[in-house]
Amino acid sequence: ATDDRIHRIASTIRVIPDFPKPGILFQDITTLLLDPTAFKDTIDLFVERYKHKNINVIAGVEARGFIFGPPIALAIGAKFVPLRKPKKLPGEVISEEYSLEYGTDKMEMHVGAVQPGELAVVVDDLIATGGTLNAAVCLLERVGAHVVECACVIELPELKV
Ligand code: PRP
Repeated sequence: ATDDRIHRIASTIRVIPDFPKPGILFQDITTLLLDPTAFKDTIDLFVERYKHKNINVIAGVEARGFIFGPPIALAIGAKFVPLRKPKKLPGEVISEEYSLEYGTDKMEMHVGAVQPGELAVVVDDLIATGGTLNAAVCLLERVGAHVVECACVIELPELKV
């Protein structure tokens, strides 16, 4: 059943205190990736949710959206579009600035990768404040895509704003 899979997946995610700095409880999905059943179940749950919904675009957020996004895209017959940190993409880009705890960061997407009217799902490993996903949604909407949903493996509800 779906619930059994979710509990099994959750049990494979390693939690490391004080990484990358004191007070942060880091959710480490690399241990999920070591368990082929848990990794497959994770992808399958998203595929079951998004297949038959005419999704054109899976947009993956650097870095861990690049791990979960592509297998979902392949399985549902969508294209994969990487949303990258600044100055990594070689073509013409549009960029979106967003706030971090201290300072700001930028996310970039290739111009022409997504067409107006296309249906998109944004994929990342984790949502904390939602700032990163919000920037991703803005990028896609700026080029006229419709963001159907954001898909994350881990949600940190206690950090929601
Ligand atoms: C983490 C995570 C999300 C983001 C979520 O990325 O993978 O992308 O933070 O945080 P938010 O909801 O508060 O915006 P990180 O900053 O560790 O970058 P990385 O994936 O490149 O290591």
